[in-house]
Amino acid sequence: MTAPHSAAPLGAEPSRALKGEIRVPGDKSISHRALILGAMAVGETVISGLLEGEDVLRTGAAMAALGADVSCDADGIWHVHGVGVGGFAEPAGVLDFGNSGTGVRLAMGAVATTPIACTFTGDASLCRRPMGRVLDPLARFGAESMGRTGGRLPLTMTGAKQAMPVTYVSPVASAQVKSAVLLAGLNAPGETTLIEREATRDHTENMLRAFGARVEVTAHEDGHAVTVGGHAELKAVPIAVPADPSSAAFPLAAALIVRDSEVTVNGVLMNPTRAGLYETLREMGADLTIGAPRAEGGEPVADLTARFSNLRGIDVPPERAPSMIDEYPVLAVIAAFAEGRTVMRGLKELRVKESDRIAAMARGLIACGVKVEELEDGLIVEGLGAGGMPGGGTIATEMDHRIAMSFLVAGLAAKKTVKVDDSAFIATSFPGFSDLMMGLGGRLVRLNR
Ligand code: S3P
Repeated sequence: MTAPHSAAPLGAEPSRALKGEIRVPGDKSISHRALILGAMAVGETVISGLLEGEDVLRTGAAMAALGADVSCDADGIWHVHGVGVGGFAEPAGVLDFGNSGTGVRLAMGAVATTPIACTFTGDASLCRRPMGRVLDPLARFGAESMGRTGGRLPLTMTGAKQAMPVTYVSPVASAQVKSAVLLAGLNAPGETTLIEREATRDHTENMLRAFGARVEVTAHEDGHAVTVGGHAELKAVPIAVPADPSSAAFPLAAALIVRDSEVTVNGVLMNPTRAGLYETLREMGADLTIGAPRAEGGEPVADLTARFSNLRGIDVPPERAPSMIDEYPVLAVIAAFAEGRTVMRGLKELRVKESDRIAAMARGLIACGVKVEELEDGLIVEGLGAGGMPGGGTIATEMDHRIAMSFLVAGLAAKKTVKVDDSAFIATSFPGFSDLMMGLGGRLVRLNR
């Protein structure tokens, strides 16, 4: 298990206008995939802009333990010399993915059709999260696994000796499940197909194509089908990781709710499977400009500018959830500063993220004086208008980086300081968050334990 860490409580105080032009770290989803596909490719994959957050570094360490050569040079460029599809070696020790669901689930898919045994673990949060969603389809390839009750970590998986190709209808809208199946399919014969009802982020498909795999997306009566050709050979290609829209959401949200603010975040990934928050914010009346749209590293990116806005509550269409699944915590905070009620539904998946995010947001907002109704699959927030949140609460972050950042954003615009009990997990996805926010004028203060 991951060693216990010491908590780092942090407070966010009511702040004056936030101003500035910044860049946030690289996209977490693309960073994990760059390391994993790099490890499965032939040749050297050179990665610029990799997110050096703890989650991604764990994936890099796991790929090294599986035999890839993973290093970072003095310029912050990462180099992965891959072992080729099917070339992973059995790791000598346990693969510890820390807090990262994406890292562990994609890695399970990557090893599931190679006949080696791997033991996977993570921190207390990750050990609570369901793994059956990937273990079930991976068993169909012939992988065997033994873990704790309900498929919880730690668990040991032995990859299929003679892998079978699989056609699988995913019961959950999950890019992690889709990716695990597609990665396993690379070392199976024939074709592997994943059918998803709702479109989830498509970075694995895009990157597999860039590495030379055969990937087809077709319409299907249950949604759409993604098919990958088996016994693939992946060829290393350079990867430029764009800025993470899920991280950009925090400074932009702060600008929308702190009076007189104007913040620009440059080079943000605007892939439509990830950009749902920005559509939602515009419907709420946000002054949000999408500047200089362009393509970088095969993905659409833009410079986003947010200015303080008088927002109104809306009903967020539930079918938009997959394109903004990680943004609901910060949206719930923004909703508290809007006039009227915001209804967010179709969010059952939020209950099995790094924390139960529906419960964590409801508890935290109530602690800050906001009226909230917690639903089985969502949240209804009664907005108090600009400057209306009383604040003053101490938030249990539940080992969840996005809960911590969301409430620190809230505190900058609330009437009284908002405290989070532990900001340490922010480093999983957004190293440098506090310095960046303080650079914009946000008042964040370290608190005594
Ligand atoms: C991710 C997929 C999403 C998301 C996570 C990253 C990915 O999870 O919440 O932060 O990179 O594939 P699910 O696949 O469980 O929806």
